[in-house]
Amino acid sequence: MIDLNEKKIRDMNHQERLDFIKNRVDLDVDEISLFKDNSILKFEDVNNMVENAVGTFQIPLGIANNFVINDKEYLIPMAIEEPSVIAASSNAAKIVKNSGGFMAKSSNSIMIGQIQLVSIDNHFKDVDKSIKIIIENKTELINLANTKSKFARCIDLQTRKIKDETINNFGTMVIVEIFVDTKDAMGANVVNTMCESIAPKIESLTKEQIILKILSNYATKRLVQCKGIFPKSLIGGDQMVKRILFSYAFAYSDVYRAVTHNKGIMNGIDSVAIATGQDFRAIESGCHAYACKDGHYRSLTKWYKDSNGDLVGEIEIPLAVGIVGGITNIHPLVKTCLKILKIKSAQELSMVIAAVGLAQNFSAIRALANEGIQKGHMKLHSKNIAKISGASLGQIEKISQQMIDEGNISVSRAKEIMEHR
Ligand code: MEV
Repeated sequence: MIDLNEKKIRDMNHQERLDFIKNRVDLDVDEISLFKDNSILKFEDVNNMVENAVGTFQIPLGIANNFVINDKEYLIPMAIEEPSVIAASSNAAKIVKNSGGFMAKSSNSIMIGQIQLVSIDNHFKDVDKSIKIIIENKTELINLANTKSKFARCIDLQTRKIKDETINNFGTMVIVEIFVDTKDAMGANVVNTMCESIAPKIESLTKEQIILKILSNYATKRLVQCKGIFPKSLIGGDQMVKRILFSYAFAYSDVYRAVTHNKGIMNGIDSVAIATGQDFRAIESGCHAYACKDGHYRSLTKWYKDSNGDLVGEIEIPLAVGIVGGITNIHPLVKTCLKILKIKSAQELSMVIAAVGLAQNFSAIRALANEGIQKGHMKLHSKNIAKISGASLGQIEKISQQMIDEGNISVSRAKEIMEHR
């Protein structure tokens, strides 16, 4: 039976929430204390960020080095739980450094906001008339949107006709799209606010109804491109270049491989995005949609051979990132990671993230096209297993190596080895 008088989690303080969990699940003192580690984010901050907060969640943070992007050297913070990713990015960056570093460019920070205009009762009386009215009032609508922000600028407004493709057969809808330069912010809040601010005006002008008012995470006006040259002499010669090109051919031509290939790219992208406080879900959905831009899901990177026979990698992705707003102002570690990066603009951050995605992809496909990824992976994995099994710092390396040699990497084997030492 639900006790209707029971206090709601949202109305409880921190201790009450922990007691609430303890009453339902048998957690010991040590487990409960995990919720009390507020050394980086204070509970009050966490509680303001999300609902029913009980604590924070940590994942490893590492630093990738060797990155030179547009002639500037970077140390790149990466937050990720997966072994090998940071080392792989740093290794790839070291190779590209030999050919002058990554070259990257980014468009302005233009986000798209969408406003869905429909005829609730009928099909549109006259779609074209509604569009004409909206366009006639374009300047007024843009000016109205711009009253909502001091820093972001709505620079354009367009309309599109969309045909309902569902079984409901609602006919044609008009989508009003605003284009907003959100500068150094990711811009979700400001774009949503602008969309909501002009919606009533559009309704009153057209006498039709608005349903959705929301930004699009398909940030195709916020593209970043990055290129890197991997000298063949440093990566195993002509044969290796060719093997990598075959890997790319596989990812370009087959969706099952493309998804895994792109997952490797996102290992790099997400880990920098998380360390710098970005909305990585928005980045993920935008990138995957972009992978389908020609109607087929393909590799987000492109690989080819230049006239010297060296391997060239390119990436082009939509990246809506910000260095102001969101948690960038609140999270002390995010602020420090941005400081480590010495980032001056959101565009610069997007170029760094794209470079890490490309570097990560190179290392993954080189390993796959060569010895396979398990060798390197297993080394780190076996060290983790040795550690989990209680090996001391001095024992970890030896136990891990023995497990690799035996081809048996498990907690039980690590414990046996320790017992017999
Ligand atoms: C593992 O996290 C990522 C890879 O599977 C990427 C790839 O297959 O290209 C190694």
